[in-house]
Amino acid sequence: MMKGGKDKIKKVGGNEGLGGENVKEDNVAEFLVRAKNVYSLYKGKEGSPNVVALRGLNFKIKPGELVSVVGPSGSGKSTLLRILGGLQAPSAGHVYYHGKDITKLSEVQLVPFRRALVGYVFQEGNLISTKTALQNVIQTLRFAGKSIRESRARAVELMELLGIKERMNALPGYLSGGERQRVAIARALANNPEIILADEPTGNLDYANAENVMKLIQDLREELNMACLVVTHSKHVSSFTDRSVELRDGRFIGQHGADLDLAELSSSRQVFISPDGTLTLPPELIPVIDAFGDLWDINVETDPHGNPKLIGTPVSGIQREGQSDMMNWCPVCNAVIEGKKFFCDSCGAKLE
Ligand SMILES: Nc1ncnc2c1ncn2[C@@H]1O[C@H](COP(=O)(O)OP(=O)(O)OP(=O)(O)O)[C@@H](O)[C@H]1O
Ligand SMILES: [Mg+2]
Repeated sequence: MMKGGKDKIKKVGGNEGLGGENVKEDNVAEFLVRAKNVYSLYKGKEGSPNVVALRGLNFKIKPGELVSVVGPSGSGKSTLLRILGGLQAPSAGHVYYHGKDITKLSEVQLVPFRRALVGYVFQEGNLISTKTALQNVIQTLRFAGKSIRESRARAVELMELLGIKERMNALPGYLSGGERQRVAIARALANNPEIILADEPTGNLDYANAENVMKLIQDLREELNMACLVVTHSKHVSSFTDRSVELRDGRFIGQHGADLDLAELSSSRQVFISPDGTLTLPPELIPVIDAFGDLWDINVETDPHGNPKLIGTPVSGIQREGQSDMMNWCPVCNAVIEGKKFFCDSCGAKLE
């Protein structure tokens, strides 16, 4: 847990989109989004241990990049999306937008951040059923402080852009699934965000409509340089993105469709050895060694210069894939957490 004077603190003003004060600055500002060592824990129900949904994820999205997150049910996809979108605070770790840490912002400070940078699309579309398609979009603009006239003009323009102008006065119940998702995307675009975060946006759509939605997202990138992170179960949907990252049990286990940035490894080569001897590899290394889910024996040997060297040997026959992990110690600093506390006294991680 980073604390104290080591971290650079920079004051940012509201016009920079985050609206917060004393917001930590990241040293890599060229990325639109950067998640650093993000952990997420959900407290277990009465008598049950906590669930670790995300385990120290590192992740970057460039402006205009289309990324999909795939993985089995319960692997942490929605949790990751909510944390990246500032809808949920990580238990530990940081999320930066253009180098500014959003995890330190209060709920009130997060409002202008979400409004300025992020548009959300959920599986059901989450349209208000008593308002027409157009009114659904207008409402978002009104909430952002736009005048009635301005909001209406912008909403109509978006309806046109998404090819649903003819249906804009219909209530959501009278629209097809594909049309509803177009309205949801129009609403997400209303405030000109830099990234769309979409959780299973094509989940209820047939093949052709899912394809249309993804083509639309590609067009928006071409026209507006808008990035998109899309959670999906579908290989068809992920084929429309630049790269696809795979989550399994709260960790990235692979990255497909883009070359691994080997230069990046140099900054994350450290491994963490916990007091019980567990060795945690940086997630970027896992696709390289191509042995995720396996157990490794680690031995210390001496190299020709007399320096100690770690040697890893895979132990065959052990498969941990899909195993759910319950914790009663802090996964950040490995301190034991006594009783039913949801806060780590040792490192300050929030555990819920
Ligand atoms: N509010 C919550 N309280 C307790 N545990 C939760 C909560 N939300 C998610 N979890 C747990 O965290 C883990 C990750 O959940 P998450 O919803 O992020 O998975 P997912 O990959 O989106 O799954 P799906 O594909 O089914 O939507 C799961 O074990 C889930 O049971
Ligand atoms: Mg989900």
